[in-house]
Amino acid sequence: MGFGVSKDVIEEIRSRCDIVDLIGSFVPLKRSGTNTYKGLCPFHQEKTPSFHVDASRQMYHCFGCGKGGDVFRFYMDKENVGFSDALHMLASRVGVVIPENSGENSDPAEGRRRADARERLYRVNEDFCCFFERTLLGNPDSPPTQYLIKRGIPRDVAEKFRIGAAPDAWTACLEYGLSLGYTEEELVASGIVRRKEETGRLFDHFKGRLTFAITNEQGRVVGFSARSLEAKPPAGKYINTPESPVFKKGNLLYALPLARKMMVEKNMAILCEGQLDTIAFHRAGFECAVAPQGTGFTEGQARILKRYANRIFLAFDADSAGQKAILRAVELLLPLSMEIKVIRIPGGKDPDELFRNGGPDAVAAAVDDAIPWLDVLVASLPERYDM
Ligand code: UTP
Ligand code: MN
Repeated sequence: MGFGVSKDVIEEIRSRCDIVDLIGSFVPLKRSGTNTYKGLCPFHQEKTPSFHVDASRQMYHCFGCGKGGDVFRFYMDKENVGFSDALHMLASRVGVVIPENSGENSDPAEGRRRADARERLYRVNEDFCCFFERTLLGNPDSPPTQYLIKRGIPRDVAEKFRIGAAPDAWTACLEYGLSLGYTEEELVASGIVRRKEETGRLFDHFKGRLTFAITNEQGRVVGFSARSLEAKPPAGKYINTPESPVFKKGNLLYALPLARKMMVEKNMAILCEGQLDTIAFHRAGFECAVAPQGTGFTEGQARILKRYANRIFLAFDADSAGQKAILRAVELLLPLSMEIKVIRIPGGKDPDELFRNGGPDAVAAAVDDAIPWLDVLVASLPERYDM
């Protein structure tokens, strides 16, 4: 093979990439037959969908512009890269490691080294996600499990959202990571372990906290948001994985892989503030809810949502920070021609409290009663200006 990768490996990558999944992460697709989907062609401007994806043949074709092919062709055309780059990027996306000596003319060593480092980061995160899950679910009497019960989260929900717990010890994760063969540097790069500036000592970042796995669009774990079990913790209530080559929080949306199917089906996304609010919406039947990652909503996140849905429902807290966040989100979403509504929670609670007190019906009623964003702006004017 002239691409430096053996045919076996290419086929392995192809078989793990589902074309509907891949294309669906760029273009909203609607089912048009048992195994076929269609959407607006990403390669030319059109108003009615002539872009078809065939799941059984794993091919796509546009009857408008004539473009078509397999997963690799799609990625090359969409991302404007050559076959070799497409191969490496898709490999890392589906977790296939391309062996060093897989072909004669290897890629530039630098690109390979970086791809390997990223792949290792994905693996550290996945390994620790499993470790945290076992720590939580294997210890029914431990404080994190008790906390979860107190918050009304049943086991199946914890499993679905990959909630876990970090051991309540300073070096349990460090030792576990080293035992798996990761280096100290890799563990620090992943954010699982941190280095104390003054002493150089290594310690577990998420010690004793409840962990929420954060995944990328493809569903791979890239980091964690971890909640303290205390009501008023001295340090941050939530602490997050620091930025890394795989954890770029401005481009991550919590629960996106679980949410995108319904987002497309209902042409609707719900944007809330945190993990537990997102989970509450999903449990109430609104499996189209996501949340930004411990920062304000970004332009990158707005563009991701736009690929799946045109209607956005904002479900931010009723406090003044929440009001500001609404206006900021509107600023980013309006230029993308999104229809924006605001969900208001009666009594100034958050969606998680609403679900726990009122169940799915109360959440559905709040969604039904959502108001256009402009009404929120108008209502806020007297407070913001001296009328
Ligand atoms: P909130 O303070 O609104 O918390 O933060 P919450 O979602 O209601 O959480 P609970 O119910 O008290 O557990 C909303 C989101 O902001 C981020 C987290 O992602 C959180 O889910 N956050 C919050 C942080 O990153 N750090 C913090 O210290 C607090
Ligand atoms: Mn809350």
